[in-house]
Amino acid sequence: MSLPPFDQSTRTTFTETPNPSWAYGQKTDSTAAGAKWMEGEKGGWKVINTAEEDRLKLYTLMISGIVPRPIAFVSTISESGVENLAPFSWFNMVTNHPPIVSFACSNVPAGLKDTAHNVKNSQGFTVNIISEPFVEQANATAIDTPPEVSEWAFSGLTKASSIHVKAPRVKESAFSMECELFQSIDIVHPDTGEQSSTLVLAHVKYIHIRNDVLNERGLVDIAKFKPVSRLGDISYARVGDAFRIPRPSWQQEKDKFAELAHTAGNL
Ligand SMILES: Cc1cc2nc3c(=O)[nH]c(=O)nc-3n(C[C@H](O)[C@H](O)[C@H](O)COP(=O)(O)O)c2cc1C
Repeated sequence: MSLPPFDQSTRTTFTETPNPSWAYGQKTDSTAAGAKWMEGEKGGWKVINTAEEDRLKLYTLMISGIVPRPIAFVSTISESGVENLAPFSWFNMVTNHPPIVSFACSNVPAGLKDTAHNVKNSQGFTVNIISEPFVEQANATAIDTPPEVSEWAFSGLTKASSIHVKAPRVKESAFSMECELFQSIDIVHPDTGEQSSTLVLAHVKYIHIRNDVLNERGLVDIAKFKPVSRLGDISYARVGDAFRIPRPSWQQEKDKFAELAHTAGNL
């Protein structure tokens, strides 16, 4: 399949929301785009009982539907000093107080992946965010090297010293977190008793952010940061256009709810 070349120009532009005139109670099918979306339901639903589904099919289905996923690019170090690097997209922020992020490493036939093994050794690790210019390098580190082989050398990526943990940061990453293990949870299948993966809760101790990706408010500017996310199969995505919607506050909005209840008699 021939594909158009990657568009190197920055594409994240802030636009209006999909339906800027939306008001409380307005149905999705009241716009042309919304009506078209709801029409799709006419094709019916496929319902899957996970207990009866083949595990590989469940994997491919779930990673195609739970999207886009941020990616933790995790740098760890083994007891014998081998530096390991690998991406994990079953990743997210858990809370800011204390600052905790999570990622999950599924087991391989031989047992724990090197990352899951290494995070438990109390030497600390780093979680780095991947930007478009080095996604090929990052992807290469997903290779299933034996534990004694480091992924750093052939990735083309550069180690940067951490200030708190032993494992290096990825110098190419504009947003890196130095972490200590907060808790690791063995995920055991309730029916089979098989340990299938390890959920890592990481306590973020230091954050390194490249100044050039920050805006005047000291926050990360998405257009400069160019983070990549994971989709289904072997697909990645870049951030497309963005839009802003204020988070509603009951204090400010309650009169509109009362009005709606009065006119529609449905609240
Ligand atoms: C973008 C991307 C995301 C991935 N996400 C995960 C994940 O969330 N969990 C997982 O177990 N493996 C994931 N993998 C596969 C691991 O990166 C791969 O198994 C790697 O070899 C593990 O390295 P390690 O054994 O050195 O820890 C992902 C691979 C890629 C390319």
